[in-house]
Amino acid sequence: MTEACTYVIFGAAGDLSRQKLMPALYHLEEAGRLPKDTIILGSARRSWSREEWQQEVRGMIEERGRGGVDEALFKRFCERLYFFEGDLTDPEMYVRLEKRLHNGENFPPNVAFYLSIRPAEFGVVSQNLSEAGLLNEEHGWRRVVIEKPFGYDLQSARALQTRITRYMREDQVFRIDHYLGKGTVQNVLVFRFANVMMEPLWNRNYIDHVQITHSETIGVGGRASYYDGSGALRDMVQSHLLQLLTLVAMEPPVSMEAEALRDEKVKVLRSMRPIPQNAVNAHAFRAQYAPGVVEGKKALGYLQEEGIPQDSVAETYAAAKFYVDNWRWRGVPFYVRTGKRMARGQSMISICFRHPPQQFFRASQVQRPTPNWILMGIQPTECLRMEMTVKEPGLEMNTRLTSLDASFRNEDEVVTDAYEDLLLDVIKGDRSLFLRYDEVEAAWAIVDPILRQWSTERDYIATYPAGSWGPIESRRLFDKATHHWRHTLNPEEV
Ligand code: BG6
Repeated sequence: MTEACTYVIFGAAGDLSRQKLMPALYHLEEAGRLPKDTIILGSARRSWSREEWQQEVRGMIEERGRGGVDEALFKRFCERLYFFEGDLTDPEMYVRLEKRLHNGENFPPNVAFYLSIRPAEFGVVSQNLSEAGLLNEEHGWRRVVIEKPFGYDLQSARALQTRITRYMREDQVFRIDHYLGKGTVQNVLVFRFANVMMEPLWNRNYIDHVQITHSETIGVGGRASYYDGSGALRDMVQSHLLQLLTLVAMEPPVSMEAEALRDEKVKVLRSMRPIPQNAVNAHAFRAQYAPGVVEGKKALGYLQEEGIPQDSVAETYAAAKFYVDNWRWRGVPFYVRTGKRMARGQSMISICFRHPPQQFFRASQVQRPTPNWILMGIQPTECLRMEMTVKEPGLEMNTRLTSLDASFRNEDEVVTDAYEDLLLDVIKGDRSLFLRYDEVEAAWAIVDPILRQWSTERDYIATYPAGSWGPIESRRLFDKATHHWRHTLNPEEV
């Protein structure tokens, strides 16, 4: 049985806590998944009383929860909610926190610290936690949840890792990549490894190329200072999109246990062909949104957004081509792209199969058949489709595309948020959906040459109108003239 714990949320007044963490904990309460006696101790610099904090949380759930606030449920949830005022930069705060955890309020001795804070503070906060004895496991387990980004590049990730290993063991660290908590992302593994018919086709003999797309219609919003220092490659590709790539490309793990799964993911990352710095432009493309129209409304360009320096060349769009140089995938391009202020907000994996070896129907009316695709919609449409060519009814030998739909959710089944899964896994101590350090390091090693090259190109960045699918020039990444970006799940709109 899962043991109760004290969930300490640092940065409890911040965006992540408001939009994701507190609503997710509330829904875990609703689902009856929080172990009895579990306490949620929000911590921030505000001087809120316990009641004021509870009211704040009510607002968060009203705004971001599914279906508003249910009074009876919220009352139950409130019994778990406590608040601790504190400044993370003040070492004395950790001493007070240590006392608070033992002061007879009956907080469970197992403690998870969720660092929903600025990445630059991960190291110092870990140090302070340790120095105040808060990571000491004498009376119960202690776990630390670290949000992304883990480091800023390869070197800083290594430095951060060296620092935190002084204070905690690897099995106490839960590095979040919230993409891994998404149901459809986990379904990639089920689809591949629970259906035997896929495995024989899942390789270079049948698959022509793979595309992974995450596009958003939103801009940088209130995150200008973080985003301008980061850019799309660090923000999305190094983490979420490379994780998706590993799930598509990995070998079957010996079991679904955390280490077995992570061993296979890291093997994929290590098999990826390094991009030489002088070949970056053939493998990666960056751009920034200019003014345009998104979903029918005028949108500012990136440089006009509040807080963005006029000469910024931060990319809001990044596309890259990777190769996994192993027996299964050698020669198959994996095209990955992401962008803000694009035509549509969606995430999908598209797998394009090769053409049949012989065109049997050439003599008939049939045009060159379109290849089969497997489409995995991650959001907003969650689906799993296979596109096939079939004969059109009638006397002529005409064909058309149809798709087999293996969607995994019925209409009456609730969509849970990725954070619900992940927050629960921390309590359960299940690290399969969290990143091991070697994965993070290998992912930085892949993008590092691109980051280094782009950091030297300070004078120019391509642009695309907000509301578009990004610059047409990104096509230069394609290996074959027949390759094109697959924008939608719908065959008619390809
Ligand atoms: C975050 C990025 O990790 O993921 C954001 O920092 C991005 O820039 C977000 O918008 C996308 O996640 P989701 O779950 O909203 O698609």
